[in-house]
Amino acid sequence: MTPERPDIKYLFEPRSVAIIGASHSPDKIGYKMVENIVSSGYPGPVYPINPKGGELLGRKVYAALAEVKDEPDLVCIVVPARLVMGAVQECATAQAKFLAVISSGFSEVGNIEEERKMVSFAHEHGMRVLGPNIFGIFSGPGRINATFGPKDISAGKVAIITQSGALGIAMIGRTAVEKIGLSAMVSVGNKSDLDESDLLEYLIRHSGTAIVMMYVEGIKDGERFIRVLKEAARKKPVVIIKAGRSRRGAIAAASHTGSLAGADNVFDAIMKQCGVLRAENLEDAFSWTRFLADSPMPSGENAVIVTNGGGIGVMATDACEKFGINLYDDASVMRETFGKVTPDFGSLKNPVDLTGQARASHYTAALESALASPSIQAVMSLYCETAVFDSENLAAMIEQSVKEYADRQKPLIFTAFGGAKTEAAIDALRQKGVPVFSDVYEAVSCLGALYSHYRHCSSPPEPIAEISLDLARMEQILQKVRQDRRTFLLAPEAKELMAVVGIATPASRLARSLDEAVKFADELKYPVVMKIVSKDIIHKSDVGGVALDLLNPGEVIDAYQAILQSCRSLKPDAVIAGVEISEQVRPGAELIIGARRDKIYGPIIVFGLGGKYVEVLKDVSFRAAPLSRKEVMRMIEETRAYSLLLGVRGEKRKDMDRVVETVLKLGAMVAQCPSISDLEINPLVVFEYGQGATALDVRVLLNP
Ligand code: COA
Repeated sequence: MTPERPDIKYLFEPRSVAIIGASHSPDKIGYKMVENIVSSGYPGPVYPINPKGGELLGRKVYAALAEVKDEPDLVCIVVPARLVMGAVQECATAQAKFLAVISSGFSEVGNIEEERKMVSFAHEHGMRVLGPNIFGIFSGPGRINATFGPKDISAGKVAIITQSGALGIAMIGRTAVEKIGLSAMVSVGNKSDLDESDLLEYLIRHSGTAIVMMYVEGIKDGERFIRVLKEAARKKPVVIIKAGRSRRGAIAAASHTGSLAGADNVFDAIMKQCGVLRAENLEDAFSWTRFLADSPMPSGENAVIVTNGGGIGVMATDACEKFGINLYDDASVMRETFGKVTPDFGSLKNPVDLTGQARASHYTAALESALASPSIQAVMSLYCETAVFDSENLAAMIEQSVKEYADRQKPLIFTAFGGAKTEAAIDALRQKGVPVFSDVYEAVSCLGALYSHYRHCSSPPEPIAEISLDLARMEQILQKVRQDRRTFLLAPEAKELMAVVGIATPASRLARSLDEAVKFADELKYPVVMKIVSKDIIHKSDVGGVALDLLNPGEVIDAYQAILQSCRSLKPDAVIAGVEISEQVRPGAELIIGARRDKIYGPIIVFGLGGKYVEVLKDVSFRAAPLSRKEVMRMIEETRAYSLLLGVRGEKRKDMDRVVETVLKLGAMVAQCPSISDLEINPLVVFEYGQGATALDVRVLLNP
């Protein structure tokens, strides 16, 4: 029986800590670790371990962990990889809880087996592993700097989780420059055991952490990560920087969904769905983090820009549009709020222009007025250096305004742009931790990030749409396919599957001879469509296996012969089951709806404009299943296909409900039926409201 796992609290707040590999040489990592732990003022007992014994930085050095009469909550392992397993065994005997394995030389260099052995041994003995290949952990609440990074880390409310060690150490340096105090800094390295999800679960609950920033390169258990992120982002802002665009999966060749769902666009969509703020670069990540860590949440959508320059006002307005910030425009409230504090030749429209002759006192008056107005919920104040402005009062005015807004819990963001005097004021303010930017765009992007988080938190959680499927009947169909040693369904089987889940497909028959083809076409009524049916042909059009718009028996005969001839010459080895004759469906909006099981993130769904040009047009959106109905609507709204569904050029609105239903059904099929790897309808032809939709082509792939 595996022993119970220790509470992760003791990783962040260890009651005692040991360092195996505590070196006597100041240039070694094992020395630096002890030095940082001791100098960070860690209050608990510290046990340096080194066979040489002696004393290190005023602490007794133990020759082995066995000599320590304690069960350390945290053991930092800083010996070469080949000695790590021995150290882990010592930790088991000492009943340690968490191991921070600093050592490199494991899975990152292909030594996967050794890493696996270490983790399973640790688990068998009730221990958990951070790393290996990490620079350690800093924890504000634990008052411990168990890293070999910078010695001085100021405590604060920002937690950082990083997969890159070197970048993490550089980030510590950057936080110091930017006056960002840390509540935690954790290096996850190879994530052999503890990963971002484990750490986030703790950090969401930890009251000293206001915001979490993560640098991620690759995710192992994506489904769990999504669950944890969804919960986390409702409580605290989570800023993520993800690097690394992995190659498209091998499945790409077999379906549009596969090739559209490249790793990065799927990740991006999932982050949005979880309410996470994804930063494209470190600059954004740091600016957002610094601003969001201290900013109050807005109480509504109405933002106002106060400026002394038309140009920066326009730039800010453009940026607001890009970042989804709503500029308040109620003329009477604007007049009432800013009329008395704006010169006659200024502008009372948003952006409020105090004009180039504004002085610090004018800003103060306008900002106080906006602060007092319940109709205004966030303010962006822009300053462009002018000759008439009393620069000596700039810093004090900004600091005072920021304080007043913070006291009244209304977001205020400042930008100041100009020469040496302005830059000096910005520097002085930043040293005091007052948020002020020199770039308008950067400031607006911060406010945009705040609004994204605000909207996510203020929208009520949506119930996941329940879709019940007849899994037993689905399984019967799939069983036959497997018996035939195939990993994809033939058209008639795919249609049968659609019938089971209640997705309409055109009426059709499988003709095995020319006579049957003509007979079935007569029964189905003209015009008809013909398609080759062969287990060896997936892309039917590529081999001339499709004929549309056949109006009479003569055309059916010609098409039948042409299809067979073309397929036989282009795919001579293909076993042909026959030709499918289907009714030709009347025109409608053509969509693609796909669902696939992503190796990392589990079931994901793609929606967009359908037809054979999907990969060129790329008018698609992605989500991770399961979904709520509202989320499906948002997914639809993100694409240009949405306008088609609403009806363009006098067309009537299409059957949106049926589209939503179809998306949910495909998602549920992939989520509930593990043997399906890929499901795609392209096109789904959607008719006018109330008249449903028909799946013209359905592709179903099974896991090998
Ligand atoms: N128990 C305790 N201490 C032991 C030991 C044991 N079983 N076996 C050896 N030691 C001691 C050594 O005697 C040495 O102390 P000393 O300098 O006083 O003699 C100390 O542990 C370190 O061992 P050493 O062999 O000198 O290793 P090192 O310091 O050169 O390197 C690592 C050890 C872990 C730092 C190195 O192997 C490594 O992995 N470096 C990369 C770390 C890294 O970059 N991580 C990722 C960051 S993002």
